[in-house]
Amino acid sequence: MSAKNATITVGNKNVDLPMYDGTVGPTVIDIGKLLAQTGMFTFDPGFLSTASCESKITYIDGDEGILLHRGYPIEQLAEHGDYLETCYLLLYGELPTKTQKADFDYRITRHTMIHEQMAQFYRGFRRDAHPMAVVVGCVGALSAFYHDSTDINDPHQRMVASMRLIAKMPTIAAMAYKYNIGQPFVYPKNDLDYAANFLRMCFAVPCEEYKVNPVLARALDRIFILHADHEQNASTSTVRLAGSTGANPFACIAAGVAALWGPAHGGANEICLRMLMEIGTPDRIPHFIARAKDKNDPFRLMGFGHRVYKNFDPRAKIMQKTCHEVLAELGIKDDPLLDVAMELERIALHDEYFIERKLYPNVDFYSGITLKAMGFPTTMFTVLFAAARTVGWIAQWKEMIEDPNQKIGRPRQLYTGQTSRDYAPIGKR
Ligand code: CMC
Repeated sequence: MSAKNATITVGNKNVDLPMYDGTVGPTVIDIGKLLAQTGMFTFDPGFLSTASCESKITYIDGDEGILLHRGYPIEQLAEHGDYLETCYLLLYGELPTKTQKADFDYRITRHTMIHEQMAQFYRGFRRDAHPMAVVVGCVGALSAFYHDSTDINDPHQRMVASMRLIAKMPTIAAMAYKYNIGQPFVYPKNDLDYAANFLRMCFAVPCEEYKVNPVLARALDRIFILHADHEQNASTSTVRLAGSTGANPFACIAAGVAALWGPAHGGANEICLRMLMEIGTPDRIPHFIARAKDKNDPFRLMGFGHRVYKNFDPRAKIMQKTCHEVLAELGIKDDPLLDVAMELERIALHDEYFIERKLYPNVDFYSGITLKAMGFPTTMFTVLFAAARTVGWIAQWKEMIEDPNQKIGRPRQLYTGQTSRDYAPIGKR
């Protein structure tokens, strides 16, 4: 980073603050010493103008619709590579050689089983629990089973925990699904690739052979790639904040899963599909568009808008293509949901309200239709997102732990509550 100064005037005092250029993207002003120099904090709820860390992993240009992992465009990774290659890239910073890739795939595959006692743990949940509730609990519980990889100061243990999390998340997710529908757990199978193995763990039953459809496996692998990382979003920032306290990686990733669950973040894919079902037919779209524009109505068009993208989400374009491939493979020609989605997209892209606010379809808009066609219930959508995002969370967590300037995350506040007052005994209030 190259240092230069920004001068800001506070009252009649000029304060020099260092500025740093990234390799691409906006320059930042380092306000770390602002409090010491002026006695003031900055105020930025929602972090609209605040960079919370330095990172070398993912870059997004929201105006241009660009998403790069370690410099590589998401379109190229999704087109030419597989999910584990993207995982390697996010974790290690470079694409693997043939030998490195084979070794990485082997190591991830050999960590997919979970401790048998965890099956008992699942049985403590109600059958009708939302699978995300089960996944939050089970990921947090990993630290109770894998004590030998919770020392965050040991680089070897950090890497073992990272591998375990990437490898075990699909198993944990599939078990949450199987438990929910009352079917026996299906163990991972080591001769299958990551996505095919996940499909099998979700959809195979012991009484018959399960043959993985390669088109669906490839589509799921692509969905995993598209969700692998997205720089400092809410769940990743949660993981970093939890990790900054020195908490173990399993606990930090559980915090990330919890943050992802919200409808403004990873929960949007589930709610988006429910919205498309509620709309039902294209003729009902104008009513929902009107509701989305009405400031007195909390309804929002799910799957539209993004904090960073003020252009087409590049992931949405790939997702749209993948969606069509899956529907064609499954022979679904006239999916009413797809009709509603296409018409909604068309209308929204031509509507002044959406144009003015730069509200474009995001990745969740098409992922729900695709996952539903594959046979996943809506409650599993965010679980799949969590499984895919685990590598991003863990890569960002590792980067933070390995940063020599790392500090505990501790934001300040603008206090607008009561000033100091005396305690009144209960009878005098
Ligand atoms: N439908 C209708 N109006 C919207 C929408 C929407 N989906 N999104 C934003 N707006 C309006 C909003 O009312 C505001 O209007 P005005 O300026 O008149 O008050 C303006 O656009 C700016 O919105 P904002 O809430 O200030 O924007 P934000 O950056 O804080 O919110 C968002 C981003 C993703 C939370 C929001 O766009 C949203 O709620 N979208 C629907 C949920 C969704 O699809 N989320 C998935 C995001 S992609 C997956 C992921 O990365 O997690």
